[in-house]
Order: sequence, then structure tokens, then C-alpha cells
Amino acid sequence: MKVHLKIKRFDPEKDKKPYWGEYDIEIEETDRVLDALQAVKWEIDGTLNFRRSCAHGICGSDAMRINGRNALACKVLVKDAVQNSVITIEPVIGLRILKDLIVDMEPFFAQYRAVMPYLVNGTDPGQRERLQSQEDRARYDDTTKCILCAACTTSCPSFWARGDYVGPAAIVQAHRFIFDSRDEAAEDRLQILGDANGVWRCRTIFNCTEACPRGIEITKAIGEVKKALVTGKLE
Ligand code: SF4
Ligand code: F3S
Ligand code: FES
Repeated sequence: MKVHLKIKRFDPEKDKKPYWGEYDIEIEETDRVLDALQAVKWEIDGTLNFRRSCAHGICGSDAMRINGRNALACKVLVKDAVQNSVITIEPVIGLRILKDLIVDMEPFFAQYRAVMPYLVNGTDPGQRERLQSQEDRARYDDTTKCILCAACTTSCPSFWARGDYVGPAAIVQAHRFIFDSRDEAAEDRLQILGDANGVWRCRTIFNCTEACPRGIEITKAIGEVKKALVTGKLE
């Protein structure tokens, strides 16, 4: 099928402001939007820049706005994205554009690091792994699926308004450890998430849940962290 791509372009070294690059390509309708971007880069304009690695929804590197909604370019089929033969592609919102569709992920990863996204347990496990019941493991299963793509955080109006909001992705990562029965640092993480830039900046807007390519119930996880803060209990 013939597709007209409108891609937001910006090179801060030479452009005063972003502009729309327009490209006509011929592509299979079952190809992904990532294939369409690669067709532009390889066949029309090699200066187009975007991140990608796995091309299979695992690495989380190609989150972008496709027709105004955050998604992974490698998980959206051209036939599902195209509207009147046009697909519009922009960088995610809320992080500085480095070039074209590539944004500066450092503030995002700083927020991730801030919530202690690792298991804390000072006791010696001995000669075997730390055991956990299937029920305890199931408690935080949903939030283990995160691939740190940032589609959630960069779709959140609270984050757009206040870039210092820790954001849904970091809360998902904190949730994964707060509700892990083997971990001993839930209180520390709850203290971090209870401050001015923590979970209370979430206004339950649900954009994050809609954007997540892993289908994680993000707003529910945020609600569980809020509840733990209010009740002081990990249920
Ligand atoms: Fe991406 Fe979902 Fe993780 Fe957010 S929670 S970073 S949208 S995988
Ligand atoms: Fe933002 Fe998601 Fe909360 S979109 S306001 S983090 S429910
Ligand atoms: Fe890895 Fe899309 S390229 S998730």
C-alpha cells in the first residue's frame, strides 16, 4: 500500500524549531511502523534518526507518538496506524529532543534509579535461592513486565506539567519491589514515593495504562502504592 508519513524532524544544531518531514513510501500493510521508518531512512533520507534495537517489543527503545498516542513503533502495524493513507509520527512529550525522534532519556532513568529498583535484603540466603510462595510471587507479577520504554511517563499530563514528578514508570518499578515478600526496603521506597514529587502528583488520568505496550495495570499499581502509604500496610 502507499503511505504518506509525516515525521516531526528536529536537529538542534541547525534547526530553529521542529518541522514536519513528509515522505511517500510503498509498504506492506502488515509491516510495522518501524519498518516504515526504516524504509524512509534506508531509501529516502539517511539523516532521519530514531532508536530501535530488538524490533520485537522487548528492548523498549522505540517509544514514540504515533497519530498522537504513545506506542512502540515495532508493535504497531501500518494497517492499524494509517488514517486516510497518512501516519503521523512524533517524539514522545516531556523529554528534551536530541534529534528527530530521539529524546534524552537520562531524566527518566534518574527517576528510575531514585526508587531503588533492586532487591534489598541484608540476611544471608545461605546455599540456596530465597524461597517465595507462588502466591507471594503473584502479588507483584504484573509490574515485573516493565521494559522501561517510557511510553507511560511521557503520556502523563502530570509529568508534562511537572518534569520532577517521579512518573508512572518509576512507580511501577518501585511497586515490583515494595510488594516482593523477600525485600526489606519497602519503607524506604514508600518514603521516597510519599514526598512532593511522588505518587500524589498522579491524578488518576489513566493515559499511562492506555499507553503501556506490556498491558501493565499501571494506575492500579499506583493506587496500591498510595494505599500502602495511607494505611502503612502492604496488602
Ligand atoms: Fe513502558 Fe509499561 Fe514500563 Fe511504562 S510501565 S515504562 S509503558 S513497559
Ligand atoms: Fe499520570 Fe497515569 Fe496518574 S497518566 S496522572 S500517572 S494514572
Ligand atoms: Fe525493541 Fe521496539 S525495537 S521494543
